[in-house]
Amino acid sequence: MPATVFISRQLPQQALDLARGRATVRVNPEDRPLEKAELAARLREADGLVCLLTDTIDGELLALAPRLRVIANVAVGYNNIDVVAATQRKVVVTNTPGVLTETTADFTWTLLLATARRVVEADGYTRAGKFTEWGLMLLLGNDVHGKVLGILGLGRIGKAVARRARGFSMRVLYHDAVRDLAAERELGVVYQDRDAILREADFITLHVPLLPETRHYIGEAELRQMKPTAYLINAARGPVVHEAALVRALKEGWIAGAGLDVYEEEPRVHPGLLECANAVLAPHIASASRETRTKMATMAVENCLAVLEGKRPPNPVNPEVLGS
Ligand code: GLV
Repeated sequence: MPATVFISRQLPQQALDLARGRATVRVNPEDRPLEKAELAARLREADGLVCLLTDTIDGELLALAPRLRVIANVAVGYNNIDVVAATQRKVVVTNTPGVLTETTADFTWTLLLATARRVVEADGYTRAGKFTEWGLMLLLGNDVHGKVLGILGLGRIGKAVARRARGFSMRVLYHDAVRDLAAERELGVVYQDRDAILREADFITLHVPLLPETRHYIGEAELRQMKPTAYLINAARGPVVHEAALVRALKEGWIAGAGLDVYEEEPRVHPGLLECANAVLAPHIASASRETRTKMATMAVENCLAVLEGKRPPNPVNPEVLGS
């Protein structure tokens, strides 16, 4: 009997076709994330799950999914899944590393440029028919070229962001738990401690994973160290930044602006952020290009099918479940 895969949201057709060719596939028909009870009902009969960051897969849910053998997250991050609980139940968890690196770096730059050059405000101004009021001092932003970029977290995405900074003739400082001498040689990035970067950089961009030690990695003390002309960009994970402190920083001018793709309690956005014209706010879409979302979905389906077919999945997060 073919295995049953539950897919928690619509996926690109190519990924659905791949899954349908090799398993019995059920797809959430709703155009919204399912509530926990709805997901539990769907998982009762599922051998595999393909899910998104909007699905919280915790121990309680796993206990209601007796047949489940694999959770294939369509994301590189997997903080929505209780991996320890999955491992205890011998459920394989997989993610989609690599394929979204360049697209996420592109979007990090989109946020950085849009924030520094006030693109969203400019769009609103033009649509409001105010072009007639044009003057030399209209919508002044800050230059990006020739400035100092501080990258906190020099993993795959951090490096891809650094590579792009060359085109803007920027000096790039980075901090990471581990110093990366090869990256320093290849990209010309300079290692410094985090606080020195906070004090010096004109743009701080975050690329650390969400771990207990990176929760509120940027809080009031860190924001107060930044220059009043500096910008904070976060396309990593919301809880890395203390959102209430960021709202105060934006409103009270501790920093010049912020470009955010992620939030502390998604899908909730701190109401204070919505009041800040100096913040550009995107709804967690850094990897949302057609090409990349298709690659991510296909990769997740491949991971899911591999486990169900008794093969080693290409991207296990808890490989200890697979044995040798
Ligand atoms: C997006 O946030 C991802 O983790 O893929």
